Amino acid sequence: MSMVRFGLIGLGGMANHHLYLLSKLQGVNITALCDVNLDVLNSIADKYGVSEEQRYTDYDSLIQDPEVDAVISIVPNKFHGKIIQLCIQYGKPLMTEKPFTVNFEEAHMLKELFEKKPIPCMVGFSYRYIPAFRFVKQLLDEGRFGTIRHISVNYLQQWGAEIYDVPFSWRFSKEMSGSGALGDLGSHMIDSARYFIGEFKAVSGMMTTFVKERQVGDVGMREVDVDDFTSFQATFQNGAMGTFVTSRNAIGSGNQLEIIIYGNKGTVKLCCEQPDEVEICLKSKENMEATFEKVKVPENFYLNQLQDFIDFVAGKSVKDVPGFVDGYENQRVMESIMTSAKTGQTVEVHGANERIINC
Ligand SMILES: NC(=O)c1ccc[n+]([C@@H]2O[C@H](COP(=O)([O-])OP(=O)(O)OC[C@H]3O[C@@H](n4cnc5c(N)ncnc54)[C@H](O)[C@@H]3O)[C@@H](O)[C@H]2O)c1
Repeated sequence: MSMVRFGLIGLGGMANHHLYLLSKLQGVNITALCDVNLDVLNSIADKYGVSEEQRYTDYDSLIQDPEVDAVISIVPNKFHGKIIQLCIQYGKPLMTEKPFTVNFEEAHMLKELFEKKPIPCMVGFSYRYIPAFRFVKQLLDEGRFGTIRHISVNYLQQWGAEIYDVPFSWRFSKEMSGSGALGDLGSHMIDSARYFIGEFKAVSGMMTTFVKERQVGDVGMREVDVDDFTSFQATFQNGAMGTFVTSRNAIGSGNQLEIIIYGNKGTVKLCCEQPDEVEICLKSKENMEATFEKVKVPENFYLNQLQDFIDFVAGKSVKDVPGFVDGYENQRVMESIMTSAKTGQTVEVHGANERIINC
């Protein structure tokens, strides 16, 4: 395929990031766009010279457009599942944003369809494309820190705190988003942990909603029925332990995903706010005084997520692409955390005979 013709569905905040990534690539064309907001649709379509016929307000038509080779879905979470289903039905390669679905039941239904008719499907776990994350993955694969004992992950944002007066939106509705901080930020924490450490074994979660209602235009206040703070502890199948905190109320934190991984030979710290460096402390009997040192990430760890998607669609061997299975397993972990928070019990993530799909 010489030119890849993209169709983008959902042209809000995160679409800017995908349009930026596409602008850095050769051999791509923004062929079709879809949004329910006509003003947004037309202004972006004008900018990219998209024809009147390929400006859609229903995603089904965009997915069926024979001139669209691959779809990027960046819509509110409620629509992720339906778009994945349609792409499977029409055999369209898809980059779908996180969280994978609004609940595990939906993910399970999609898994059954996907197993019968697989498509190239990337899930938007974009932190795998932060250079520091790729670099740490390689260091872990090389066994540089020894046997991993513990991963500590905090993903903190401040924009939900009362002082920001953020009005009600789809992000505060369970029906539209599935969960709050957990699905929005926690899904990235879970993917990072699966990427670095491996599969979860059990989780024990606590969730709360600090800001319980938000303004809807001039109409009044509406109840928030999703979490804005979630924490959980986890065990992994390889015996490592994990501690996780995510909040939309962490004043002073813009977009702070910070991870510390402790092995029996050393520790590595990374944070998305410093994408090009990591801090490493490696000890040995000969060097017990070692302290943390900043290490610059080498150039070869700088990748474009959508170039990887194009290569993945073309059937090239691409390392560490977050695929369908990563979305599915991520959703399973989130469901287990929600069940744990509700019941007050630790929840096994995988049933005894559960098969982990591999695709
Ligand atoms: N990977 C990441 O780091 C990351 C970061 C931000 C957002 N996201 C994900 O991207 C998705 C979108 O988030 P956002 O911040 O861009 O939201 P947003 O509210 O800014 O934009 C959503 C857009 O979708 C449009 N839309 C709503 N319903 C639609 C429908 N049925 N058909 C077509 N268009 C529709 C809206 O009009 C809006 O323009 C979410 O799932 C979010 O979790 C991922």
